[in-house]
Amino acid sequence: MRIMVLGGGGREHAVVHSFSKSSIVTKLHCCPGNPGITKLAVCHEGDPSNPLQMTSLCKRLDIDLVFIGPESPLVAGTADALREAGILVMGPGKLGAQLEGSKVFSKKFMEKHGIPTSSFDCCGNIDECKKALDKRSAPYVVKADGLAAGKGAFLLDTYEEAMTICSMMLDDMLLGSAGKNIIIEDFVEGLEVTILAITDGATVRILPSSQDHKRALDGDKGNNTGGMGAYSPVPWVDDEFIKKVEDVVLTPTLEGLKKENIPFCGVIYAGIMIKPNGSLSVLEYNVRLGDPEAQVVLPVFTGDFGEAIFACCKGTLADLDWPSPERVALGVVIASGGYPDKYQTGYEIVIHDEEVQDTYIYHAGTARDSKGTLVTSGGRVLTVVGIGATLKEAKKLAYERVNTVYFKDAHFRKDIGDKSLKEDSL
Ligand code: GLY
Repeated sequence: MRIMVLGGGGREHAVVHSFSKSSIVTKLHCCPGNPGITKLAVCHEGDPSNPLQMTSLCKRLDIDLVFIGPESPLVAGTADALREAGILVMGPGKLGAQLEGSKVFSKKFMEKHGIPTSSFDCCGNIDECKKALDKRSAPYVVKADGLAAGKGAFLLDTYEEAMTICSMMLDDMLLGSAGKNIIIEDFVEGLEVTILAITDGATVRILPSSQDHKRALDGDKGNNTGGMGAYSPVPWVDDEFIKKVEDVVLTPTLEGLKKENIPFCGVIYAGIMIKPNGSLSVLEYNVRLGDPEAQVVLPVFTGDFGEAIFACCKGTLADLDWPSPERVALGVVIASGGYPDKYQTGYEIVIHDEEVQDTYIYHAGTARDSKGTLVTSGGRVLTVVGIGATLKEAKKLAYERVNTVYFKDAHFRKDIGDKSLKEDSL
């Protein structure tokens, strides 16, 4: 099959890598891709969030199946346009993408279909925000309704800070139209886990569990980022837990989508909090693989990724054998110094040893300059992944490889996986 992957980050590099190992793939394309992806796929310039442009590109290349990596093209309706053009697509249309694209939609959806989530208020003006905050105590959780590239969720220690953020979103348009409506919800304490599942709309299959590290600095300090590292599978996530997630979250989500006549073929990302009493609360849905979760989940998925995605698109996921992971992967994001705030780009990246067994380097914020030198071009630059029999081994391999990569002001967390390593002497 001729496959097109849309996107150009670390997640898409991992997706392209998984497709490259599939028995059903004859040709791989990517738009826009990145310098790491060019080694595995033909990269094309273009904007994945432009449905017409993507349809004509995929038609011209005679693409059989498109995998849409990031959320923006899904929310923009790229999947709808490609399907209308008769191309198989992994990723929901505009309607399904609301699960991620609108927090107001997703919270109301969960409430309506009995999916556990924290109690919330939808606020469209400052008086409604005040009322919603008055009902709650610190820490305050304030979220922008729309897509905000990971910058739309705030955890605030004081009432004043929470009111300031609300006013910045509503009055000063801090996040543009994404912040025109606001969700204020109860803070939920507990252990967070990411469950990624793929679905053809009728059957759901769960990929290996993972845990992200969202804060910029060691010990979960510093600002929230898109994710500074992850590992998969999570040692304490057992079959019983997965069954519970399926029963309480994923199956009701599919049933809810069906009741609302929303077709859905794609990824369901459930960010789940396990409360101290063992019950679950869904923090958020996304409708795509996580980044950097994909970079650790996909390498430990032992099935044929291409077959799994094709089965999703054809509606035959129920017929597919679903293997369990046999190894553990741990990924460390190397970011530009200063990320997620201001940072410089254009620094040369030196990667000693292009190939090291049981490790991968997935590109994200990288580019070639006019001389062809690999340089930094974004906040999160690379994800370095180690794969071992245990979490400890995966961590050792990942950090050994991290130490062979250099660019000016590079920053990475040194404690990815440590919480699980301490809890469980793996
Ligand atoms: N790593 C978090 C996300 O992809 O949303």
